[in-house]
Amino acid sequence: MFCGLDFGTSNSTLGVAQHGQATLVPLQHQNTTLPSALFYHEDNGAIDFGRDAVATYLDGGDGRLMRSIKSVLGTSLAKESTQVGNRRVPLKSVIADFIGEVKCRAEQHLGTELDSIVQGRPVHFVDGDSKADQAAENTLLEILSSVGFKNIKFQFEPVAAARHFERSSAGERLAMVADIGGGTSDFSVIRIAAHDRGGVPAEDSVLGNFGIRLGGTGFDQKLNFWRIMPLLGRGVMLPKERMAAPNWIFHDLATWSQINLLYQEKTMRDVRWAIDAGGEDIRFRRLERTIDRRLGHQIATDVEAAKITLSESTAAGIDLSYLEANLRQDLTLDDLHDVLDDSMDRLAAAVEECLVMSNVAAEAVDMVLLTGGSTEMPLVQEAIRKVLPASVIESCDKFGAVGSGLALEAAAVFG
Ligand SMILES: Nc1ncnc2c1ncn2[C@@H]1O[C@H](COP(=O)(O)OP(=O)(O)OP(=O)(O)O)[C@@H](O)[C@H]1O
Ligand SMILES: [Mg+2]
Repeated sequence: MFCGLDFGTSNSTLGVAQHGQATLVPLQHQNTTLPSALFYHEDNGAIDFGRDAVATYLDGGDGRLMRSIKSVLGTSLAKESTQVGNRRVPLKSVIADFIGEVKCRAEQHLGTELDSIVQGRPVHFVDGDSKADQAAENTLLEILSSVGFKNIKFQFEPVAAARHFERSSAGERLAMVADIGGGTSDFSVIRIAAHDRGGVPAEDSVLGNFGIRLGGTGFDQKLNFWRIMPLLGRGVMLPKERMAAPNWIFHDLATWSQINLLYQEKTMRDVRWAIDAGGEDIRFRRLERTIDRRLGHQIATDVEAAKITLSESTAAGIDLSYLEANLRQDLTLDDLHDVLDDSMDRLAAAVEECLVMSNVAAEAVDMVLLTGGSTEMPLVQEAIRKVLPASVIESCDKFGAVGSGLALEAAAVFG
């Protein structure tokens, strides 16, 4: 049987389609989204997935939490491995463990084997490097075949979202699809059909695609690096060395996909060196505690929650008392504006580039179709609206549109 898989940086979904109707399969209890997270237990090698993985980590389980694993595709990290207890797990196998589990859960639910797949992919896994981009797709292809898929096709994520949307759309319109998720921002200019195409994508309906490697995990990273890491010593001068503490530790600690790579003796040596050279500055002690107790993902989770709160209110507080009694950081919408100013310019430029690639003027675009969790951010919507002020903004299922669209395509290709 065939399916569509949206393997997301933050969340994944798997869908199947019959008679032009897509259904997302429940992957964790009644939830059709499975957070793209794994927890490898150190003692017995067992693996928890999705919400269970995050819960085990937050409960202080012994082992490794892995998140944002899609981000390693197309980078040198794809060849790296991470230490779990006394064994090293290649990051490619981590992705295979995750996708294999999604396949297995879906098969159990459906009561049949899945052997054919339309797999979603961002327009670009990496920016401006077509070789790395192809390498990323090849790695994903290898992984999909290693977990048992025999027929594999790829489709751009925003194109899939449009396929889902046009099922319920009335009237023919020219749409800019903006899929802004955890890892990438993807755009397609598409002629949304007025009629039911039975899931068969008309080749010429897609006028152009563009995408950049920027998304919600990157927004978390910036907020974390500029507003939380100073509390752990970022930018603090080391009087004995006449230089600031090494920036790479703070950069990696704030970056979802790199956090685990810090939990090794070398980092502790550098942190102890900073404590010594920094005259026992309390901030470096917090850093030491973070590495020692593996609190990096806890901080990143709290920063993400604060960012999400700022989609609806003007202030959010982060309780850091697990690092030090009474430690907290209050953030405002202005903080988010400050740290994401450049990112929003990049987003707007990517929308413009997509128009150029599609040979379409901004005024010709009837509607903007939003999908992906990060389109909940008013800042993101403003950045898009700046380029397309006259277009109507419509939303489709923020977390399920891509998976449903991929399922429809799978039915069209393999059905
Ligand atoms: N209300 C909200 N406000 C701001 N950001 C949000 C909100 N809800 C979710 N997000 C962010 O959306 C991102 C996840 O979105 P989504 O599930 O669409 O990504 P993904 O499909 O896994 O990633 P990608 O498609 O880039 O690989 C996360 O960074 C999350 O913090
Ligand atoms: Mg996505």
